[in-house]
Amino acid sequence: MKETINKLKKEKNAVILAHIYQLPEIHNIADFVGDSLDLSRKAVQTNADVIVFCGVHFMAETASILNPKKKVLIPDLNAGCPMADMIIAEKLKEFKSRYKNPVVVAYVNTSAAVKAESNICCTSSNAVNVVKSIAGETGAENSDIIFVPDKNLGSHVQKLAGVKMNVWNGFCPTHNNLILPGYLLKAKEEHPHAKILVHPECRPEVASAADHVMSTGVMCRYVEKSTAKEFIIGTETGILYTLKKNNPGKNFYPVSSFAVCPNMKKITLAKVLDVLTNMKNTISVSEDIRQKAYRPILKMLEINA
Ligand code: 13P
Ligand code: SF4
Repeated sequence: MKETINKLKKEKNAVILAHIYQLPEIHNIADFVGDSLDLSRKAVQTNADVIVFCGVHFMAETASILNPKKKVLIPDLNAGCPMADMIIAEKLKEFKSRYKNPVVVAYVNTSAAVKAESNICCTSSNAVNVVKSIAGETGAENSDIIFVPDKNLGSHVQKLAGVKMNVWNGFCPTHNNLILPGYLLKAKEEHPHAKILVHPECRPEVASAADHVMSTGVMCRYVEKSTAKEFIIGTETGILYTLKKNNPGKNFYPVSSFAVCPNMKKITLAKVLDVLTNMKNTISVSEDIRQKAYRPILKMLEINA
């Protein structure tokens, strides 16, 4: 399958972008593996005609919004993000109407329709800088910052940016429900010398017990530079493949070995081969929504963070 995929990639001038939570078999055929922000940047830079996006739906949709002339294919159309589904455009419009001067910061884990109702997007690696930039704009003192949909990332950003926000009540089932403070305590007892790195989608009690709260991409770069030899990792377990491969002398212990995102794991080699062969599962966004959703994504990418 790998050989055929590589042949088809050349024939169709396709590139395979993969999120770090993907299965190892996907990492091994990807042209680029990264976090949400890295992947958005790669989607802008690529000269390929076709992008096969191995990740969840909102990520492929973001790539398509940024590249209206390119074909963006997702190997499984049912690979969604339950957190992104916790806010819909109508509810956001209603929430906005409660404030006099609302400014909406939307986590990229949202649909195109929600992005279209937002002022700026953020990912977990640039959220603090995005919010600081909004709070620093002229006239910001008269506006109400709305943050959707992740309550845990929202609370982390409020703390670090020192900015009061009106945060939606969404969460990631994998990070919020499967990475629990008790598991972290146990891992800490078992590995007292390990550095603790967790994702900002984890609960505040987990984040406050960690040494660092980081996006997946920042976590990988941190580990490579660190002189520490042991790490307790609080995020989806797919990241362990990259961490172990790139850092053979270091040891990694997941806070919870069952913190798996079932949607990320819906993408398989067979499905990648199928979409490349049949050029199916094209992401489509209406031009009206695409243009409105493009602005907040672009505004985020213009922030150098
Ligand atoms: P990253 O921005 O760290 O890639 O996170 C995306 C995500 O969906 C985490 O659950
Ligand atoms: Fe969505 Fe959570 Fe899966 Fe990330 S890990 S894609 S936030 S459900």
